[in-house]
Parts: sequence; C-alpha cells; structure tokens
Amino acid sequence: MKDKIERINKLKKQHNAIILAHNYQLPEIQDIADFVGDSLDLALKATKTDADVIMFCGVNFMAESAKILNPDKTVIHPDIDSRCPMADMVDVESLNWLQKDHPDAATVAYINTTADVKAVSDICCTSSNAVKVIESLNAKKVIFIPDTNLGLYAKRFVKDKMMIIWPGMCPTQHNGIKKEDILGLKKQHPNAEIMVHPECRPEVIDIADYVFSTNGIVNHAKESSSKEFIVGTEKELCYRLKKENPDKIFYPIETAVCPNMKKITLDKVFLSLEKLEPQLELPTEIMEKARIPLDKMMKIGRGD
Ligand code: 13P
Ligand code: SF4
Repeated sequence: MKDKIERINKLKKQHNAIILAHNYQLPEIQDIADFVGDSLDLALKATKTDADVIMFCGVNFMAESAKILNPDKTVIHPDIDSRCPMADMVDVESLNWLQKDHPDAATVAYINTTADVKAVSDICCTSSNAVKVIESLNAKKVIFIPDTNLGLYAKRFVKDKMMIIWPGMCPTQHNGIKKEDILGLKKQHPNAEIMVHPECRPEVIDIADYVFSTNGIVNHAKESSSKEFIVGTEKELCYRLKKENPDKIFYPIETAVCPNMKKITLDKVFLSLEKLEPQLELPTEIMEKARIPLDKMMKIGRGD
C-alpha cells in the first residue's frame, strides 16, 4: 500500500495532477486526495487549480462538472462506470415535455444531473444552496429536478414559488434511511445530535436537529459543543468526521453505502494516472450550454 501511494504521488508530480475526492470516497482515496469535499466545494476547487490534470474521484456528474468548468484541462475519472443513479433518472426528452407544459417555469437542476440535462436547465444547485438558488429566481414557477426529497426540503423554506418536483431519488442509500434507523440510534445515544442530508425522506428530516450538505455536516460537527452525532448520510462521511474530530463520536447508518462511489479504488487511481485515461470528453456545445447554469449557481455560493 505504501509503495502504491508513493507511485501515485510520483505520477501526480510528473503530470502536474491534482486529485479531487468526494466525501463518500473510500478512506484510502480520501487520504491520497489533495482536496476532499462536497459537490459545491469540489466544483469551486476545480475552477481554482493551476494543475494540468484533474483526477476526479467521485461519480460521473461530478467529473463532468469539473470538465465543463475546465474545458482546456485534462480531466480523468478512474472508473467511468461510477455513475449516480439519481442523475440518470432524468433525461432531456422527458424534461423537455414538462418544460413545454410550463413555459413560464425556471428549471433548477440539482448538480446530480448529466451534462446534457444541465445544458437545458436555467440554473444548478447543490444540497448546500438549493433554497438560496430557488429564492434568487424571478420566475414564480420552478421545475426542480431530479431529487424529490431535496425539492420537498427546499419547498419548506421557499414560500412564494410554485414547485413542480421531479420524481427522482437516491435509490442506493438516502431514500433508504428510515426514521426508525435514526430513532434506534437516538435511543442508544440520547445525547447525540442528529445531522442528516437533505436527500433523506421528509419523515427523517422531521426528526433531525440539523439538515446539511456533506460539507455542512463536517463544518457543524467541528463547531458544535456536542460530543456525539448521529449521521444520516452515506456512512463514509464518518471517516472524515472522525479524522478531523478525534475527540468526538459519530454514529453512521451502517446500511447507507453508495456502491457507485466505492467503485474507485487505489489500483484504478494508479492505472488511470499512469495512462492518463479514461479521459472525460463532452461535446463542446453541451459544455458551453451546461456551463451557464453551473456558473450562475457558483456566483450564488454556499447556503449552509
Ligand atoms: P453533497 O454535495 O452534499 O456532498 O452531496 C452529494 C451527493 O451525491 C449526496 O448523495
Ligand atoms: Fe448519487 Fe445517492 Fe450516490 Fe449521492 S449517494 S452519488 S445521490 S447514488
């Protein structure tokens, strides 16, 4: 393992590469990354690097966003099969039908969408800034794609917009976290604060003390005076939480695992850096169109 890490670091220097990793990546990937974060911070980081090569350890829409924001850089994604099933729940044709039915609505695309879907949307958002993004719109009607749970969560705060919410969800884990899972942990650890991700079901959100993006959870855990936390999101976030807060205790939902995120391994990172492939390529026209909603969102910044 030590030898592999040394070889990865050597290749990184050789290619002037940076490794960006999402908070749900395997511990060994988080450890070799130059930067670990949530979707918004990773997208922002991708625009600020002077590296020639960006290796993206996360699911496809995240690597796509890095490429859209850096069309002249080489973006490599160690496993192209690492996709987000939620992002694949909305396609351009079906969205166009809905947009035709509601020509006065603005389309807000969660960053968990493919590049071609972003290209026909008005603005993007992440779990950190969905409410702020929707509130920034002049339109009184919003088509929100593709996560129902995030859309319903945002709707709690946005009072003056009519929202048409797409029926997508995170099938591998967030939508599977049950109220009983959280309440069971709370019974065992009554002093623990409950932090959950807004992709969770409404009844889970209802019993949470805090609802945040993955980086929002990391920031809150650092700032809170509590010593124990129940973490309602993908369980690997607890690796980073523990690493950065060794004196605090984090209780994950053991079944909350995103198998798509786990497809990226150290071996794949090494091979990918050695060969500089698979490279992420997208049609220029799609990138140009998709950059507009992404840029609009990035100007708005974090909301948590
Ligand atoms: P974050 O932007 O909060 O990291 O969420 C990304 C994601 O895919 C959650 O399932
Ligand atoms: Fe997609 Fe869910 Fe995995 Fe996030 S946790 S990347 S929404 S499948």
